[in-house]
Amino acid sequence: MNARPSLRPPQTFATARLVARPPAADDAPAVFAAYASDPEVTRYLSWRAYERVPPLATFLQECAANWEKGAGPFAWLLCLKGTTTPIGSIGVTIEGGKAMFGYVLAKKFWGHGFTTEALTFLVDWSLAQPEIFRAWAFCDVENPASQRVMEKAGLVREGVLRRWHMSPTLGPEPRDCIVCAKVK
Ligand SMILES: CC(C)(COP(=O)(O)OP(=O)(O)OC[C@H]1O[C@@H](n2cnc3c(N)ncnc32)[C@H](O)[C@@H]1OP(=O)(O)O)[C@@H](O)C(=O)NCCC(=O)NCCS
Repeated sequence: MNARPSLRPPQTFATARLVARPPAADDAPAVFAAYASDPEVTRYLSWRAYERVPPLATFLQECAANWEKGAGPFAWLLCLKGTTTPIGSIGVTIEGGKAMFGYVLAKKFWGHGFTTEALTFLVDWSLAQPEIFRAWAFCDVENPASQRVMEKAGLVREGVLRRWHMSPTLGPEPRDCIVCAKVK
């Protein structure tokens, strides 16, 4: 079943400790400083650490435009409640009854359950939509923190997608990934 053209996630949401909002181009200096310029953070991601702010501003502008068009993929910046400085990001791609998630957090905030908190909210939102039957994500086989986030958010390991994802920081060949999902 295809999603309604109008199906779109909440533009903002809050969890116990976080607020999430769409990115804007002028978030680029803060996002650069918080996590996007850190090669340890981007190690398993599909993009390399940014070396300059302007290309990141262009990317964040594209994320903002995706919200305006309503077509997605939809990305949020995550801020601690009571602050406006981004500490990470989470995104969803909705397609053909499936919602696929990705996430990243600034290193200094790792290990406090923040990503699990945001992912749990969005998994719950997704599976509450009549047209979404599968909430899923994948991570590199060597990224146990991300696998643990998926499991803590209620996704169940299904297997390994071999040669699935390019992580340019790690080299030119696609890498094996663990896939996890929650279905209804
Ligand atoms: C993956 C990432 C988003 C996790 O964010 P986080 O907010 O620190 O995650 P949480 O605190 O919610 O949970 C992390 C879990 O992984 C566990 N963990 C961390 N490092 C681990 C390791 N090397 N081996 C096993 N478990 C590990 C933590 O102990 C925690 O589990 P616990 O609550 O049972 O103790 C963050 O590490 C990150 O941004 N990494 C770089 C970007 C990335 O890899 N994104 C995912 C791409 S698929």
